[in-house]
Amino acid sequence: MSDLKEKVILVTGGTSGIGEACTELFARSGAKVVAMSIQDEQGKALAERLTGEDRQCIFQFGDVSKEQDVKAAVDLAVEKFGRLDAVHANAGVLRNQKITDITLEDFHLMLDVNLLGPVLLCKYAVPVMEEQGRGVICFTTSVAADIGFPEHAVYGASKAAVVSLMRSLTTDHSPNGVRFVAVSPGTIDTPMLAASCEGWDKPKEELYAEVAKKIPVQRMGQPIDVARTVAFLLSDDAGFIGGSVVHLEGGTLALPPW
Ligand SMILES: NC(=O)c1ccc[n+]([C@@H]2O[C@H](COP(=O)([O-])OP(=O)(O)OC[C@H]3O[C@@H](n4cnc5c(N)ncnc54)[C@H](O)[C@@H]3O)[C@@H](O)[C@H]2O)c1
Repeated sequence: MSDLKEKVILVTGGTSGIGEACTELFARSGAKVVAMSIQDEQGKALAERLTGEDRQCIFQFGDVSKEQDVKAAVDLAVEKFGRLDAVHANAGVLRNQKITDITLEDFHLMLDVNLLGPVLLCKYAVPVMEEQGRGVICFTTSVAADIGFPEHAVYGASKAAVVSLMRSLTTDHSPNGVRFVAVSPGTIDTPMLAASCEGWDKPKEELYAEVAKKIPVQRMGQPIDVARTVAFLLSDDAGFIGGSVVHLEGGTLALPPW
């Protein structure tokens, strides 16, 4: 298992789906975790569960699109644990729509959470990491940044922007010790995916079985699949991986276009 012992890690969206699996895996690997999200009850319960196992986890309620909330989360990690080794910029939202139906409210929500959130995290985490002379920031993008998905136009654009952000940040800040990487999940079984199936004419289980059959490895991804990869990318073992996107999609991107 990747060595995260004693590492101080901030996970946004760290209380549900992929982020929850990351918070659990990192804390159970010996890291000191600050999990930030807008899910107060879920966050408190998660932190309680992990501290009950003698693991170190603090929940911080906060909206990644609000500058003061992001600064507070970074400050909390540093005040409580003395430094900030890693950030997983994972919080995200998806609103399925055709472009003809998009509301400005949903457009701004997706851009605010999926792009402004990572920008603000870097604004406050990078100076701390540069001062330390080391640190790593992992973004959760999506295969929707690479290939077209129905009703994902603005979501996919917001995730593609994060990949571009990561590459430029690598140019600017990796010479000062900060590494930037991204994971790009395909179809992962989380509450976000379940919500995006609402309104379809089939039950979720039937839809999931159909989707799984189309994925070369014949199953959907689970949050732990992503968490294990992020754990590796945040660890020192991945010290030479910079500016790269790791795809976790069971081979979907390798399929022929017919
Ligand atoms: N599930 C998939 O198939 C899939 C595929 C590709 C990428 N992703 C990406 O993975 C990430 C995690 O998604 P998930 O599937 O685990 O979804 P999820 O809905 O289970 O979790 C999303 C998390 O983000 C948090 N969040 C939402 N808005 C926030 C805000 N304004 N401030 C702080 N936190 C906020 C939520 O509270 C929650 O903890 C997202 O960035 C998503 O876009 C998911």
